[in-house]
Amino acid sequence: MSETGPAYPDGRELTHPAMSSRAPSGWEATWPAVPQMFRNAEALPLPWEDLFGPLRHGAIDDLVVVGQSGQSIDARIATSTGHSHYINGQAGLAHLHRLRALVDGVVIGVGTAIADDPQLTVRRVVGPSPARVILDPNGRLPPTARALADDGIRRLVVTAVGTPTSLPAGVEVVPIAADHGQLAATAIIAALAGRGFRRMLIEGGAHTVSRFLAAHCLDRLHILVAPIILGDGRASLTLPPIDRVDEAIKAPMRAHVLDSDAGGDVLLDCDLSAHRVPIGRAKIST
Ligand SMILES: NC(=O)c1ccc[n+]([C@@H]2O[C@H](COP(=O)([O-])OP(=O)(O)OC[C@H]3O[C@@H](n4cnc5c(N)ncnc54)[C@H](OP(=O)(O)O)[C@@H]3O)[C@@H](O)[C@H]2O)c1
Repeated sequence: MSETGPAYPDGRELTHPAMSSRAPSGWEATWPAVPQMFRNAEALPLPWEDLFGPLRHGAIDDLVVVGQSGQSIDARIATSTGHSHYINGQAGLAHLHRLRALVDGVVIGVGTAIADDPQLTVRRVVGPSPARVILDPNGRLPPTARALADDGIRRLVVTAVGTPTSLPAGVEVVPIAADHGQLAATAIIAALAGRGFRRMLIEGGAHTVSRFLAAHCLDRLHILVAPIILGDGRASLTLPPIDRVDEAIKAPMRAHVLDSDAGGDVLLDCDLSAHRVPIGRAKIST
């Protein structure tokens, strides 16, 4: 290994200086301009182009749906008691907030809203906060949930058609026809696309991300692996069983060491576009 750390096959450093605690301030300093450059479809300064460039345009249609999972080495997102704060280190958490800053909407399941009561805003980095979307087919979300706080950002709750809701003023209710209590991931994305969302982050939890993955609705999956082993607990993904290895979902991936000094979180950027079903407006090839 060189003094500057591991490298891609083409010689570029795998550990981006911008994400190391030894980071030259110049790299971090380029971030604040990135959310606007990203939306303007401008090329981003490194390392941001490597990390976020693939999220700029959808490969299949005009939508980009990215899932994320912050997990241990043994692919757990929480202990068996449900404790999960925090699995990832500072660099991993900053990455999650950067993802939020680049999307139009961040989506969580009601399980996460109840367990963690997240704000879903961008706080750890500079950038705009996305609209907040909670999937709550059975109306379990308490109106006091922090994600519903009126801070000027759009808040939406996706419910099953006919579910009574009692939500704070200004929260948009998105009713979707349920099938045995389940909301089709394609219907959720289509409903959000119809409300102006083009890039969406499926932030968690395990059930929610798994449903979008199983329905072939993710363009990419950002797995943030923390340098810890929990041994037991909530698996990051649960999908219908397959019989053979050759039936596995193939997800070409690229690894980024986010902070080698801290013993580091590793980002696995998995490309799922080969499996993605069309949902939005078809891409026009030029
Ligand atoms: N480490 C990370 O990156 C991360 C991120 C987020 C959360 N978490 C952790 O994940 C755990 C919660 O995860 P979870 O899997 O239990 O819950 P979850 O995915 O947050 O929420 C699951 C619930 O959301 C509703 N839902 C989601 N998708 C749906 C769909 N397509 N159709 C119908 N309903 C849908 C259902 O509600 P009903 O039950 O009412 O049907 C479902 O039971 C917490 O421990 C949290 O800390 C970790």
